[in-house]
Amino acid sequence: MAIWHINGGNRLEGACFVQGSKNAALPILAASVISANETDLLNVPQLSDVSSTLRILRQLGCTAEQQNNDVYIDSRSLNCCTIPKGMMECMRSSVLFMGALLARCGEVHLTAPGGCKLGARPIDLHINAMRSLGASVEENGCEIICRAEKLKGGRIELPFPSVGATENAMIAACGASGETVITGAAREPEIVDLQEYLRKLGAYISGAGTSTVTVSGFVPERHAGHRIIPDRIVASTFLCAAAATGGDIELRGVDSRQFLRLQHFLNSAGCDIISSKRSVRLSSDGHLNAVDSVVTEPYPGFPTDAQPILMAALLKAKGKTKFREDIFDSRFCHASQLMRFGADIAIDGREATVWGVRSLKGATVSSTDLRGGAAMVIAALSADGSSSIIDAGHIARGYELFDYKLRSLGADIFTEI
Ligand code: EPZ
Repeated sequence: MAIWHINGGNRLEGACFVQGSKNAALPILAASVISANETDLLNVPQLSDVSSTLRILRQLGCTAEQQNNDVYIDSRSLNCCTIPKGMMECMRSSVLFMGALLARCGEVHLTAPGGCKLGARPIDLHINAMRSLGASVEENGCEIICRAEKLKGGRIELPFPSVGATENAMIAACGASGETVITGAAREPEIVDLQEYLRKLGAYISGAGTSTVTVSGFVPERHAGHRIIPDRIVASTFLCAAAATGGDIELRGVDSRQFLRLQHFLNSAGCDIISSKRSVRLSSDGHLNAVDSVVTEPYPGFPTDAQPILMAALLKAKGKTKFREDIFDSRFCHASQLMRFGADIAIDGREATVWGVRSLKGATVSSTDLRGGAAMVIAALSADGSSSIIDAGHIARGYELFDYKLRSLGADIFTEI
């Protein structure tokens, strides 16, 4: 079990490059099997979720290798359409192999995916999308079996803009004859990145970034090369850490337009932010103010993934900040851990109210999930004294060399594996 020890109180100062996006890389890795091709990906973060996905690709018979931030996949040798339960349960995005293998093989055997525990995370929208394309879906104990002799393009109406269901529908539709129109689609930048990659694989696809995505054909290419977009949630995490520690940092290699809502809140809290297209600089004197209600929404609204992180940054902000979580039904587990630092937080259903305290004191806390773990790091960096974060392995699912990068910005962190 990984434990992180942090001596709080140091300002974060300096510059750092932001890694490639986990949530863009994972669907693209799954999509790489929709046709027999070779894929070269650049800027893929080195994360445990990426390693788990490469293991699934190898289980399916593909070559899948990562060297630093380059990934090579050869899916021509794919010879299997079954993913064992243990591999499915490593992360949520394993469910994207449902659409990818249906498109490629006309059959897939898998189980429910794992992922961070954020309340109920059903996959009904994914299953309905496959059915809309003519697939049969059977559940046999914990096994889910999808079959379609040939997927047929159709209309997929998503009642909620689920990120994963939009991605699964886009991927599966590449294997369907005729046109597929996905309405009610999620509009996240990671979906636009998936569209870019699918085009390179040979898909005629348009509309990603709007709520209607159309896939009208697929002529397989033998090779696709693609660079993964920067990670907007990791960028948000560094900004929140700098804000909370009274720091001054510059993030490079980001697309600042993709996390404007977070910048807006940090600016209202009193931070100075200067952003250009490829960089963001934040400076804070450490004296933050509470902000207007923070409500999580589908993109371009404020992202649920940044909710624990912004909460951690505002624990000492003067006044009262209300958070409302409208995406997941249970994403406040980090709050009870944050209270161990002395934070004053009250939870009422989907709402959390944070009253800023004068100071936080070091504590021993658990990393409840990936972003909850990042929230613990931010709180520990801005607390007086030393803290230990237990179960810090969650953090490695989404943050590449996080301890190393924070140390290079001045943080006092020691990690124990
Ligand atoms: C993606 O998860 C991200 N994961 C999550 O990132 C992120 O929090 C989430 O989108 C929302 O932005 C990846 O991209 C790998 P959803 P996903 O389907 O696709 C309900 C992180 O920290 N729903 O948009 O699973 C669901 O229960 C993570 O990096 C159904 O009801 O999210 C939830 O309430 C964690 N039925 C809501 O939709 C379904 O079939 C949003 O889920 C699917 C979803």
